[in-house]
Amino acid sequence: MQQSLALAERGWGRVHPNPLVGAVVVRDGRVVGEGWHAEYGGVHAERMALAAAGAEARGATLVTTLEPCTHHGKQPPCVEAILAAGIVRVVCAMSDPNPEAAGGLDRLRAAGVMVDPGLQEAEARRLNARFLHALGPHDRPYVAVKLAVTLDGMIADRQGDSHWLSGERAREWVHRERAGYHAIGAGAATVVRDDARLTVRGTITPRLMPARVVFDRSAQLRPEHAIFSDAARVPVHVVHPTGATPPIGEIEGVQLIAADSLVEALATLKQVGVDSMLVEGGGRLAGALLSDDLIDRVYQVQTPVWLGGGRPAWAGFQSRDLSEAIRWRIVDRRPLGDDTLLVIER
Ligand SMILES: NC(=O)c1ccc[n+]([C@@H]2O[C@H](COP(=O)([O-])OP(=O)(O)OC[C@H]3O[C@@H](n4cnc5c(N)ncnc54)[C@H](OP(=O)(O)O)[C@@H]3O)[C@@H](O)[C@H]2O)c1
Repeated sequence: MQQSLALAERGWGRVHPNPLVGAVVVRDGRVVGEGWHAEYGGVHAERMALAAAGAEARGATLVTTLEPCTHHGKQPPCVEAILAAGIVRVVCAMSDPNPEAAGGLDRLRAAGVMVDPGLQEAEARRLNARFLHALGPHDRPYVAVKLAVTLDGMIADRQGDSHWLSGERAREWVHRERAGYHAIGAGAATVVRDDARLTVRGTITPRLMPARVVFDRSAQLRPEHAIFSDAARVPVHVVHPTGATPPIGEIEGVQLIAADSLVEALATLKQVGVDSMLVEGGGRLAGALLSDDLIDRVYQVQTPVWLGGGRPAWAGFQSRDLSEAIRWRIVDRRPLGDDTLLVIER
């Protein structure tokens, strides 16, 4: 299953709004076929793994991260391919929450295939957190916040300089991560201070370039900011309070969203099709999202740097006694050069 989960990640940035799926065919303890969903509308992981296994699939086990589908969508049902290939056992991490595609495990059982669901389910659900959120009853996008943070909890020095707190490996990782989100968000102070473009410039070219979202409460944005230079190609949503429109005029690809709270802004973003957003700071926007309980995941890039002051991460988040502290879970930790990535969930 670990191998199937790793294969599923190869579809990152390419399969949205479909889920990431990976599968292997195992025979006599040996992997004889690998597959993953590589492209939206393209062949499913199970079919790819079965094709790679060929005749060796007969009598073998299929290990897949998601319940095989039963419906004719852009691809024919995987369940039929599994039965035709002579697979005798299917191990899967999680059932399919999409009612249209679900029911595969029941069909396989009814056909006499041994079915084992639930292996590494938590990991599979985490991999597809954005997909699961989009199918759920939520009136806001899935929200992840990424911050590079010093040992003393800062995201920039006193002058607002944050280039570069984290190392090259961490910056490469950010571009990869961006490719899997529907939008990249930032506070206006960050866009103004860093002249950030918030585009994806890594090794993965996303199938759909993530839109940009700027939260501009005090009308700081100007038309000459770099973020607007390619708005015709990659849309920019500018969130502003009602009655305080930023003086940017009409720019092709720029949509203004009037909202008087973050809750309202996120609801509107969801309505215009943004179902997941990676917010890349700064500290005040991150703190406000946290205070309003609007964050699903945090990517904290811990840098071995002391600043002794500067712009704090999570600014404005109200202090509380330890007995009342909100405790989240670290679900992944990884070295990125000299930095450490912590993936933290509620
Ligand atoms: N290390 C990192 O990972 C990292 C990442 C990004 C940025 N940075 C650095 O962080 C600095 C900027 O961070 P920052 O904390 O000063 O600002 P910020 O979070 O980037 O921007 C805050 C902006 O968002 C606006 N905003 C809109 N709605 C808001 C709400 N509900 N609550 C709070 N703010 C809201 C604020 O409006 P008002 O002006 O009305 O308050 C303000 O303009 C820059 O120096 C940048 O280089 C570091």
